[in-house]
Amino acid sequence: MTLQKLGVIFGGRSMEHEVSVVSARGVMAQADTERFEVVPFGITRNGAWLTPDETRARLARVEAGDTRSLGEDEGDGAFAYPDVTALLRQMDVVFPIVHGTFGEDGTLQGLLEMADIPYVGSGVAASAVGMDKALMRAVFAAHGVPQTDYLVLTDEETRAPSSDTIRRIESELGYPCFVKPANGGSSVGVSRAASREDFGEALAGAARYDRKVLVEAAVTGREIECAVLGNHDAQGSPLGEIRPTTEFYDYNAKYLDDSAELIVPAVVDAAAEARVREMAVRAYRALDCAGLARVDFFVEPDGGVKCIEVNTLPGFTPISMYPRLWQEAGLSYRDLISRLVDLAFERFEEVRSHA
Ligand SMILES: Nc1ncnc2c1ncn2[C@@H]1O[C@H](COP(=O)(O)OP(=O)(O)O)[C@@H](O)[C@H]1O
Ligand SMILES: [Mg+2]
Repeated sequence: MTLQKLGVIFGGRSMEHEVSVVSARGVMAQADTERFEVVPFGITRNGAWLTPDETRARLARVEAGDTRSLGEDEGDGAFAYPDVTALLRQMDVVFPIVHGTFGEDGTLQGLLEMADIPYVGSGVAASAVGMDKALMRAVFAAHGVPQTDYLVLTDEETRAPSSDTIRRIESELGYPCFVKPANGGSSVGVSRAASREDFGEALAGAARYDRKVLVEAAVTGREIECAVLGNHDAQGSPLGEIRPTTEFYDYNAKYLDDSAELIVPAVVDAAAEARVREMAVRAYRALDCAGLARVDFFVEPDGGVKCIEVNTLPGFTPISMYPRLWQEAGLSYRDLISRLVDLAFERFEEVRSHA
């Protein structure tokens, strides 16, 4: 049997560059060698596309422990790399493991659509909505996905909120509240504000990253995550819990000090577990996701469930929550990769049949 060429695009310009490198190394090391020839396509921190040979050379340095990134080479836009795109066109399927902007937000998916290459994961619209918390929350509301109360501030209001806005925040949401850039990830720009004074600082912090800022009522309870896998037949996994040792699951806890505990399976009562799984699939469908997504929740002390967000390209290192949850269900990392590729082909054919 001829091997399927599986292109892995990774790295990229977001804050999650290094996580993406670890995820891609996991896929390269563990994808089924009887089925796939894995071809790596790295993107540097500044957006330069690397050929597979150059990518392998940089990965060797990562493996030697010299660095954790693919380098800083300045990019010149996606059309500037004809040698890379010529090789990319030869792939049977691509796994784009680029988190955050220019990767998880529909832009890379759009490029792959235009190139007519099947790829793992959600399409353009679901990726874009999943990246924009203001749009995502509106979709949740339209589909009855339970969520926290929130307000969206835009433009001038993010620099100098009117007294009316402050009044609404204080009466409708109260302190503490969470303030976050609408387009973000890795908790970058997210803070908890316990007073009006804190709020001013939190807002300035979030507004640095986006012209839209979300202000949310703070939820208390446990942070519970569900991995969803599939296209039309999407299923929710067993649940996992994140236990941050800091006030919330912030950037440091995620990537720097690795302090948060991941508990798999989460110990939650059966009713809450069923509700989380049901709502995870509902949120997934509401956004019209494909392939995979991790849906994050809070389970409140009274058993109430609040959906926080859908991540269309969750961390995919062998020890990340997403693959761990499927391992818990009996699906190995290797078989999970194969399943995701099957789903990519399935969706590609489906889209094509409607074109
Ligand atoms: N409304 C909220 N109440 C309590 N904690 C929150 C709330 N929103 C976010 N958090 C905390 O902040 C973290 C990051 O927020 P999240 O919306 O998931 O942003 P990101 O997309 O950056 O991961 C969450 O994992 C959680 O620990
Ligand atoms: Mg999150």
